[in-house]
Amino acid sequence: MKESRHKKGGHLEYEEKMKKAYQDLKKAYKEIQESYREMVIRLAMIAEYRAEGTGTHLVRIADYSTEVAQGLRLPKHDIYYLRYASPMHDIGKLVIPDKILKKKTGLTPQEREVIKKHSSFGADAFKGTRSRLLQVARVISLTHHERFDGTGYPQGLRGKQIPLFGRIVALADVFDALTTKRPYKEAYDFEVAIRMVKEESGRHFDPEIVKAFLSRKKRIREIWQATKNIESFIAEI
Ligand SMILES: [Fe+2]
Ligand SMILES: [Fe+2]
Repeated sequence: MKESRHKKGGHLEYEEKMKKAYQDLKKAYKEIQESYREMVIRLAMIAEYRAEGTGTHLVRIADYSTEVAQGLRLPKHDIYYLRYASPMHDIGKLVIPDKILKKKTGLTPQEREVIKKHSSFGADAFKGTRSRLLQVARVISLTHHERFDGTGYPQGLRGKQIPLFGRIVALADVFDALTTKRPYKEAYDFEVAIRMVKEESGRHFDPEIVKAFLSRKKRIREIWQATKNIESFIAEI
């Protein structure tokens, strides 16, 4: 009798230990995941600061892309990778010389060509990676300046040849550029920018992505109005 109680107690103790080990492992995994995502965002931030951005552009890129992906009903894991890899789209700007990157206006055609190389530079930085998140970052960096009609760069891909993530970030990036004040231009009004996006459907942008974007117009407006900074974005991770 005494022996069986002991056995039972031992079993319970073992179960408790296993439970605790599992919880610890889960916690450690979550922490690694979170710090990994945070590092990726902070890395993107370094590139953005060097180009004299504030980081809010990166937050909006992630938020707009997430909305489009939800509008397209992409699987949860794809939305996750898109959300955290999209802020890396311009990471290749880290290797563009200061005198070109920081020039506010009047870029020569040759200088413009140098800037255009940021998409390939960013892709090179993640070449051969085994991380799914960095593989997505690589694809986005390489393809976010391609255009649906085939007139983009660096490869001049056309239509569905352009990976989906690249097609989504292309729209998010342009929409944010349109609605943001830049040294060489004023910010367009929200509705004007929406109209410009519609006009570019089938030219710069994939019509299906434009449709998904417009289906989330209410949320897009909220993101546009919000002044979420990079620290708040990281805090949401
Ligand atoms: Fe870019
Ligand atoms: Fe951008």
